[in-house]
Amino acid sequence: MKITQIVLASRPVGLPTAANFRTEEVDLTEPGTDSVLVRPLFISVDPYMRGRMNDAKSYVPPFQVGRPIDGGIVATVVESRSSLLRVGDTVVGSLPWATQSIEKADRLRKVDTGSVPAGYYLGVLGMPGLTAYVGLVEIAKPKAGETIVVSGAAGAVGIIVGQIAKMHGCRVIGIAGTDDKCHMLKEEFGYDGALNYKTSQNLKKDIAQLCPTGVDIYFDNVGGDISDAVIGNINFHARIALCGQIALYNSASPPVGPRLLPMLLTRSVMVQGFINGDYKATFPQAYRDLTAWVTDGKIKYRQTILKGFDKLPEAFLGLFTGANEGKMLVEV
Ligand SMILES: NC(=O)c1ccc[n+]([C@@H]2O[C@H](COP(=O)([O-])OP(=O)(O)OC[C@H]3O[C@@H](n4cnc5c(N)ncnc54)[C@H](OP(=O)(O)O)[C@@H]3O)[C@@H](O)[C@H]2O)c1
Repeated sequence: MKITQIVLASRPVGLPTAANFRTEEVDLTEPGTDSVLVRPLFISVDPYMRGRMNDAKSYVPPFQVGRPIDGGIVATVVESRSSLLRVGDTVVGSLPWATQSIEKADRLRKVDTGSVPAGYYLGVLGMPGLTAYVGLVEIAKPKAGETIVVSGAAGAVGIIVGQIAKMHGCRVIGIAGTDDKCHMLKEEFGYDGALNYKTSQNLKKDIAQLCPTGVDIYFDNVGGDISDAVIGNINFHARIALCGQIALYNSASPPVGPRLLPMLLTRSVMVQGFINGDYKATFPQAYRDLTAWVTDGKIKYRQTILKGFDKLPEAFLGLFTGANEGKMLVEV
């Protein structure tokens, strides 16, 4: 059987382009014992994949040039040689960017798509949701009345962070890259204020205006100038959950900004970088809470879905231009 797959054609220098990906037709054999043939329904594109395009040691191995990209996928089982899964089951796993693939059944998790959209298992009920939960609840430990600033606020992780912070009684300010996203954060997701970092003339001053009592928690998804401006407003005993640095992922060499460590020292600020996978012990509780909140309507979610397998490179590159509201997905 012929399938289509997308491989890493070359390693990018700076901002990736479509030329770093290549689409190929290859043959696929039949599934063996304990394996299933799956067809992707939704494929996730995520900022961390940019790091995997480099040939560098990290917490996940790099993609190999000439080999398929892989990542979070919701798929349907079309053929089964395993007692664990039946034809028609919907599963989640880390799978290759291919129109079909053969996987060991025990590497896949069966999910129920009766009550939530299938794509949510790559978003609010998947890695981004768990990341938001761990970073906020376990690391930042929000208290009622505190002010939290979330950068990358309108994305897959950020949109959830603000809503959980509201449940904890916090005042929530989001930073995002368009007026529409800022409007959405306030009107649909309950943010108390939002700032468009692309049109702000003075980020530090604008954040000060939105946070008159200072910043108690900073959930950082982006880094760079935005973080410099937020940290310029940081309170004594504040907590910073260092989740992502997307503004720096395409830098060929580390940019030099203000030296902020003295301020963090003298204000007794706790800065905790984290990778969600290091908090697996929290996942069962996080998953239970997130599922209940989504089912009860306490947490709303947003997906930006591009249709067609061939849209994968475009969807991925769109993460770096802010083309998504909420979780960026490709529907195959
Ligand atoms: N630590 C962990 O375990 C973990 C897990 C998941 C994700 N992350 C990190 O968390 C962050 C958010 O991930 P996500 O999946 O939720 O992505 P996302 O926010 O859905 O998508 C990326 C967003 O980043 C913003 N952005 C892109 N380039 C930017 C720049 N130069 N400056 C400021 N904003 C920029 C864009 O929104 P705008 O329109 O607002 O610019 C874009 O929509 C990423 O840095 C990611 O690497 C970490």
